[in-house]
Parts: sequence; structure tokens; C-alpha cells
Amino acid sequence: MIITIDGPAGVGKGTLSKNLATHLGFHYLDTGTLYRATAFICLKDNCDLQNTQQTAKAAISLLERYDFKPTEAGFCTFIDGENVQRSLRADEVGSAASVVAAQTEVRQALKAFQQQFAQEKGADKGVIMDGRDTGTAICPDADVKFFLEADPKIRAERRVKELQDMGKSANFDEIYQAMVERDARDANRKTDPLIPAKDAHILDTSMLCVEEVLQKALSVITSESGK
Ligand code: DC
Repeated sequence: MIITIDGPAGVGKGTLSKNLATHLGFHYLDTGTLYRATAFICLKDNCDLQNTQQTAKAAISLLERYDFKPTEAGFCTFIDGENVQRSLRADEVGSAASVVAAQTEVRQALKAFQQQFAQEKGADKGVIMDGRDTGTAICPDADVKFFLEADPKIRAERRVKELQDMGKSANFDEIYQAMVERDARDANRKTDPLIPAKDAHILDTSMLCVEEVLQKALSVITSESGK
């Protein structure tokens, strides 16, 4: 079984995906990490983010330099043997990821890996694919598709709280502005933009707690898989 969960930044895709994977005993791929890791390599290697030859080369090299390591606490991400799990979550890397993700060559370089992962793991226990285009471009034949939405101000507030909980300072206006810019870039790019698949279930998480989102998703999955 393949379940896709797409939507903009801060909408709760990661939380829902991890909860569903735990609840259903499924595998999980956070596809955004691939774009973040590509951006991280570009920043580390001093690539020009606008030079698609350099960024596509970074994406191709990623598949050799990158390693998911399952641990009891979840997944760790290693690049060139270095644990970069925390570094990849930095907002600077997220924004750079959105720039390289707009490039067709980068998307092409990462597509086969994602599709192969979905096919293999979907045929095993089942898989949750989390991203921006998993229901449209990566797994158009997925069994169940979700598209999560939430008010941008609420999404920015969630990010502020997340940063504060990590002991970091956070400015709402800056975070809100960066989020709106990132959404626009993701939604307006020409290749595989952030749009709901025609057959996706739209879930607005603005007023829902984590448990309510999980329960709504589970009831959709139960009714879809019983068809
Ligand atoms: O979900 P995230 O914040 O980790 O994603 C980082 C960036 O990667 C996001 O701004 C757009 C890009 N991305 C994408 O274009 N397609 C995906 N399937 C996942 C992420």
C-alpha cells in the first residue's frame, strides 16, 4: 500500500506521516530531506544554487554520499559519514532546498530513487511518502492520497514555537515572510509544482490537534482500503 501526504511547509505532514507509519507499521520517506540534503551539499561544496549543472551534480552525488540509518529514535541522516540530521532542518537549508527543488534537472535526478523506494516498501509492509509532489509526480497511482493545508499565519506560529522549544530565538514576521516566499516558489515552479492531486483528500489542519489529524486520516484510509 502506498499513501502520499503532500502540502506546504509547517502544515503537519511530517508529524502525520510519522504517526501513520508507527500506527500502521509502514515504512516512511520524507522526500523533503532529499532536497534539503542536496541543498546542504551545494552549500557545503560552495555550488552556485542557480547553476543547474552544479546542483544536478550535487543531487546525483547525494545518492552515493547519503545514508539513512534507522535507529531506535527514528532515522538518522548521514552525508559523507557525518550526522547532519539537525543541520538539514535549518531554515537556511530549507530555503536553499526550495531553490534547487525548482530545477527540473534536480527533480529528475531524485525521482527514480523515490519511485523505487515507494514500489519496494509499498510492496513490503506499506509506505508513507511525504512531500510536495508525491501524489502527483512520484506516485500518481498511490492507494490513498492526502493534501494538507493550514492558514499560513498558524503554520508560521507553529514554526516559531518549534524553534522556541529548541531554545532558539524566532521572529514571527521573518518566519512568516520566508514561508510565504517558499510556498510561492514551490507552487509556481514549472516542474511538479505543489498542487493537490485530483484524487487527494484535502485535510485542513489549522484548527486540529495532532491526534485529530491522525484520526481523520485513519478513517479515510480505512474507508478507502475497504473499497
Ligand atoms: O518538506 P521540507 O520543508 O523538508 O521541504 C524542503 C523543500 O524541498 C521545499 O521547500 C520544497 C522541496 N520539496 C519538493 O520540491 N518536493 C518534495 N517532494 C519535497 C520537498
